[in-house]
Amino acid sequence: MCGIVGAVAERNITAILLEGLKRLEYRGYDSAGVALFNNAGVLERRRRVGKVNELERALAGEPVTGRLGIAHTRWATHGAPLERNAHPHFSNEQLAVVHNGIIENHEPLRERLKGLGYVFTSDTDTEVIVHLLHHKLQDTPDLAAALKATVKELHGAYGLAVISAHQPDRLIAARSGSPLVVGLGLGENFLASDQLALRQVTDRFMYLEEGDIAEIRRDSVQIWDASGLHVEREIVQYHEGAEAADKGEYRHFMLKEIHEQPKVVQRTLEGRLGQQQVLVQAFGPQAAELFAKVRNVQIVACGTSYHAGMVARYWLEGLAGIPCQVEVASEFRYRKVVVQPDTLFVSISQSGETADTLAALRNAKELGFLASLAICNVGISSLVRESDLTLLTQAGPEIGVASTKAFTTQLVALMLLTLSLGQVKGTLGAGVEAELVEELRRLPTRLGEALAMDTTVEKIAELFAEKNHTLFLGRGAQFPVAMEGALKLKEISYIHAEAYPAGELKHGPLALVDSDMPVVTVAPNNELLEKLKSNLQEVRARGGELIVFADEQAGLVNGEGTHVVSMPHILDALTPILYTIPLQLLSYYVAVLKGTDVDQPRNLAKSVTVE
Ligand code: G6P
Repeated sequence: MCGIVGAVAERNITAILLEGLKRLEYRGYDSAGVALFNNAGVLERRRRVGKVNELERALAGEPVTGRLGIAHTRWATHGAPLERNAHPHFSNEQLAVVHNGIIENHEPLRERLKGLGYVFTSDTDTEVIVHLLHHKLQDTPDLAAALKATVKELHGAYGLAVISAHQPDRLIAARSGSPLVVGLGLGENFLASDQLALRQVTDRFMYLEEGDIAEIRRDSVQIWDASGLHVEREIVQYHEGAEAADKGEYRHFMLKEIHEQPKVVQRTLEGRLGQQQVLVQAFGPQAAELFAKVRNVQIVACGTSYHAGMVARYWLEGLAGIPCQVEVASEFRYRKVVVQPDTLFVSISQSGETADTLAALRNAKELGFLASLAICNVGISSLVRESDLTLLTQAGPEIGVASTKAFTTQLVALMLLTLSLGQVKGTLGAGVEAELVEELRRLPTRLGEALAMDTTVEKIAELFAEKNHTLFLGRGAQFPVAMEGALKLKEISYIHAEAYPAGELKHGPLALVDSDMPVVTVAPNNELLEKLKSNLQEVRARGGELIVFADEQAGLVNGEGTHVVSMPHILDALTPILYTIPLQLLSYYVAVLKGTDVDQPRNLAKSVTVE
């Protein structure tokens, strides 16, 4: 996805900008560019389609040096990946902008600006920002003040940075829906969409908050909040290894990654939600046109990613009315598949390198699918490179072999897909999208509340320490959640765990239930609750011990052999994401009690690149 780097210094910053872009490469992009004021005060730009290496080569051929500049890696949304669409975008050779996110009202703005005589040279939504800013500067000569006036007219999501010939000693940034961080140096300061891009130059950072505007000069940083008030943002010192490769305060990577979920879910949503709608362009420039043609969806994945696909089927059919099939990649690739007309092929993968999933995608290309979409956590993976469309999850590196944060971010991405398809095709019920967009915004907070149950779940784990078998039950979209819960438990604690749709209990597994077989279930307060309660009675009647994660309003209470953990209430469609959390914690604490190798369980690999 798009990346931003900016710098204002006394030394030449070209190499700093390039290095910053390289550090953001893992996010995935299709073109890159840089703009600087050269030593004669002239705004210069180099842009290239392809890798940052191409841009580096262009700069080696035609060098630019300067002390104020911005750079960008672009992942196309509006307009194809062409050089003229790559950022930075200019207005009248005086102003330059780089932008992450999507401006929803770019069309009316473009018409208005054309009326004012502005000439557009790209197909991007971004170009309206720089011309509008140029227009505002005529009445408001201060760059920060003019940007404040400009962003008031923008609808959508943005993280952006501008430089101007009018005040060539400063970099101005604005954040709304797309992250930005200021890097503090000595007599020089920086800006980036991810602090990773700036670790080469500083270890002190200031994170901009929603609605913030920042004026960054060599020796000062000023920030105004959404209401225009001057504010101070905390300076955070980064310690080497504080992120991916370090467990920090946690005993295992898995626990750290479980606790990162509110943050990475937030990141996966960033720049993809409009006021009341999902921004369909987040799937790429041709997404809206393609989605309009989709009549069916075929999902293919392995392991945990397959379970995410199974949840998505309930959403695609239940919310968007789009027929959906889900299959494990190792089966799909060797089976004779009949493809319905206008079927979108969706692959889901954390790594983007899983051999079976990749092979299934390659087969799919021969089979006449409408197009392929990859939902993936690694921007530079094979799966992303070989798919027509991509939606990257922003889980960050996942080290624990048992997938946790990759799963919940995949679910978020699949909900965005469901709403986008439903939106384009007009198949969502009235108000559904607005309601879900609002609830998605609250989701990180809800996940935080679920994580606060950590110690309660740790206590419950003791019930499993001596057990050899368990059963996980769920109904509706909670069935795949139960499957994922069972997979986690077997992967890291080596306890045999099976998941069943609760209604199937009496068709077989009930025969296994006795006091040695704990039964875990998730019980949101929905139309299936009463049926689930009957299934729970069937278990209790056979002496089975029940562990129930239930909505606080579900009316389930602790009793003899029944342990109820109360869950925060959330809109029903999002319960699969929320109810995954306690099941992850449960398997983690059971594994810790059993003393297994939590992060690297026996016989398993993080990325299965062979068949
Ligand atoms: C392996 C991992 C699982 C993962 C599966 C699919 O089995 O251990 O955690 O779910 O591969 O991997 P992918 O990278 O394609 O999501």
